[in-house]
Order: sequence, then C-alpha cells, then structure tokens
Amino acid sequence: MALVQDNPIEVAGRCYLVAGAAGGLARPIVAALLKRGARLILMDTDEAGLDAMIADHGSENALSFTGDITDKAALDAAVDLGQTRFGRLDGGLNAAGLLPIAASDTMDAELFRRCIDVNLTGAFLFSQALAPALRAAGGGRILHIASVSSTVSNPAYAAYAGSKGGLAQVVRVLGREWAADAITVNAIGPALTETDLTRNYLSNPAFRAKAIGDIPMGRLGLPEDLIGPALLLFGPGGAFITGQTIYVDGGRTLV
Ligand SMILES: NC(=O)c1ccc[n+]([C@@H]2O[C@H](COP(=O)([O-])OP(=O)(O)OC[C@H]3O[C@@H](n4cnc5c(N)ncnc54)[C@H](O)[C@@H]3O)[C@@H](O)[C@H]2O)c1
Repeated sequence: MALVQDNPIEVAGRCYLVAGAAGGLARPIVAALLKRGARLILMDTDEAGLDAMIADHGSENALSFTGDITDKAALDAAVDLGQTRFGRLDGGLNAAGLLPIAASDTMDAELFRRCIDVNLTGAFLFSQALAPALRAAGGGRILHIASVSSTVSNPAYAAYAGSKGGLAQVVRVLGREWAADAITVNAIGPALTETDLTRNYLSNPAFRAKAIGDIPMGRLGLPEDLIGPALLLFGPGGAFITGQTIYVDGGRTLV
C-alpha cells in the first residue's frame, strides 16, 4: 500500500487562529507552528503578552489581535483578520483558560460563572466563529486545551472540572456535527504544568508534592509535551481523528 503521509505533522503554509496565545501552554506550540511555516493570528486579552510574542517572532507570519474569547464579535473580527490577511484559515487552537480552585462551600458564584464562561462557552464560541471559514477552506482543524479535569474529580475543582468536562462533551458533539464538512474538533488534556495559571498553587510545597505524586510518570507536565500531539492533530496525520480528548498526562488519568 502506498505511503499516505510522508510527513504526518506537516503544517507549512497553513493558517490558524490561536486564542490564549500569550499563555504558558500556547507559547511553545505557537513557536513550533511558526518554525514549521504556519501563519498565525495570535489572540489574547493580554496585549503586552502579545506584543512580546510579536517582538520574538516578527510580524510577517504572526499577527496579534487583542480580544476576549467570550466576545463573539471579537472572535468574528479575529477570523475576518485571518481571512483578509492570509486569504484562508485552516484551523484554530484555543488555549485560553482560568483555574479557580476553591472548596465548593466557599466558591464565589461569580468566579464559578466566569470560569464556565471562559473555559466552556468561550471554547464553543471560538469553534462556532471558525466553522464557516473552515468550511470555505474545504475543511479544517479545531483544537482545544482541555485538562485531566475533563475526567478526574479533584476536590475543590467543581468550576474547573465542570468547565473542562463540559468541553470534552462539546468537542464530541461538534466533532459529529461538522464531520461531514471535514472539520475535526479535538482537545488535548494536559496534566498539571507550571505556568502563570498554576504557579501560585504550585508554590505551596504540599500542593506540589501531591500533584507530582498523582502522576504515575513522576513529574509535572512540561509545556513542550504538547507540541507533538498538537502538530499531529493539525497535520495530515490527524485527518481522521475527531471528537477526542487526548490526554498528555504521564498517566494521571489511568485510575
Ligand atoms: N497549566 C496547567 O497545568 C494546565 C493543565 C491542564 C489544562 N490547562 C489548560 O490549558 C489552557 C492554557 O493554560 P496555561 O497554563 O497556558 O495558562 P496561562 O494562564 O499561562 O495562559 C492562559 C492565557 O489565556 C489568556 N486568557 C484568559 N482569559 C481569556 C479570555 N477571556 N480571552 C482570551 N484570552 C484569555 C490569558 O491572558 C493567558 O495568556 C487553559 O485552558 C488551562 O485550563 C492548563
């Protein structure tokens, strides 16, 4: 049988929208995509973080767009920018997120709502905004960053696990709805990884030791762990994978 894919992680010339682009998990994936010849719209609420990325990568193949993933008009404008400047969009990476950890007896209602709004509703709106552009391109790839909390039930994680469990189901439903349009919708579920999102929690030695002890491979995640899976899901090798949350977690979910 002929080799179908000479390079299963080929992304050269592909154009993607990245939300939460200035974050700790997004940055190495952004660098890997740009290094391999992709062109990106980098979206985040953190304008200074985006400016630093453009300073690093240059503005030829990366454009910044300051906007909130819960804002449908901002998402539509980011998609328009991609189509206008690159002529097409081939997919999107959503790595925007919040992590409020609090015992459920004391969890603030507004914080709970905001977590669901950004992590779940935002992920849905991001997908919805991309779909017409991807259909116009003849298909595409949507990739969200979910979490081991899509399936693990850590105490004090009701808001976060609720949002990420919901995200895994949204990914399944969208994968089914848009399969006939050759649009794949997937998520990567990382284990706890040191970034701005988690640094405060991990500075507590007991929290850190428990987090590492819960991971069979005996270490926290590294942002770089996500590069290979992300490239595969964007590249030819990911063409027939949809609706999945793929855990990249050193065995954290094997319980
Ligand atoms: N770090 C971890 O341990 C870990 C583990 C599993 C899953 N995740 C998930 O991965 C994603 C990225 O996390 P991270 O560790 O890189 O966090 P991070 O805080 O370093 O990055 C998140 C980025 O999202 C941006 N953002 C936040 N709210 C936004 C909004 N409303 N609109 C647009 N951008 C917004 C922030 O400005 C930031 O740049 C999140 O969804 C997180 O839940 C993280």
